[in-house]
Amino acid sequence: MMFTHRLKAIQGVAFFLTLLSCSHSWAAPDAVAGKVKALVCTACHGDGGVSSLPGFPHLAAQPLLSIFYQLLQFRDQRRKGGGMEAIAATLSEQDMRDIAAYYAALQAPPPVAGGSTDKITLGQQIAQQQYCSSCHGAQLQGQKHVPRLAGQSSEYFVSQLRNLRSGARADMDGTMISAARSLTDEEIEAMAVYARSLP
Ligand code: HEC
Ligand code: HEC
Repeated sequence: MMFTHRLKAIQGVAFFLTLLSCSHSWAAPDAVAGKVKALVCTACHGDGGVSSLPGFPHLAAQPLLSIFYQLLQFRDQRRKGGGMEAIAATLSEQDMRDIAAYYAALQAPPPVAGGSTDKITLGQQIAQQQYCSSCHGAQLQGQKHVPRLAGQSSEYFVSQLRNLRSGARADMDGTMISAARSLTDEEIEAMAVYARSLP
């Protein structure tokens, strides 16, 4: 078990380094082309990257590298869910970069007020204590390959964090899995309510 985890982590890091080292030979991402290529995505991810379906992730204002990286993960079946494996398999890497550039440049999803202030306060405390913001950004806005959490659907947030905690969703270097390991359901719920409240 331990060994498999470590092996996965090493493969993940190697994969990520390849990703970075290749980046110079790529054509620049084209957000205008990406908009057209993303038309098929709007049915689920919404117009402007803000989904109206509960539990479906918003893509607006996600970091370019995070979207690109997740699409590669789906294509390579390292991440599964929502039928995204089949969808990502139809995209070239240039398509993925263009689409990622399009979504990254869109206006962030509107913050969702509501939910108890106790939950929001608890969520904020945990985010600080557990150093979530050290990777996801001070306002959980995401950076580089680390996804944006601010304004994200709380149902999606909860399901992904549970999957990361159980190992059902792999992550590239094991850091997110270890961050999630000690969280209770109550803490996950509180952080989801906090995250969606952020602009
Ligand atoms: C039939 C509905 C559907 C369509 C069409 C669809 N998606 Fe998705 N997508 C989902 C669901 C559901 C998830 C969450 C998967 C999970 O549970 O892990 C998802 C997840 C993602 C993620 C990961 C988001 C994150 O925060 O990690 C990205 C990136 C993504 N989709 C991009 C796309 C792109 C680009 C297209 C169009 C080429 C597309 N999707 C089309 C349903 C869809
Ligand atoms: C060491 C850096 C790091 C820390 C600390 C960290 N994360 Fe993450 N997180 C990541 C990375 C990287 C991913 C993308 C994982 C992947 O798919 O490879 C991620 C993914 C996620 C996702 C899934 C988002 C999506 O769009 O699919 C959630 C939710 C999340 N983190 C919440 C948290 C919370 C809550 C904390 C604090 C308890 C936390 N993270 C701490 C790096 C980190």
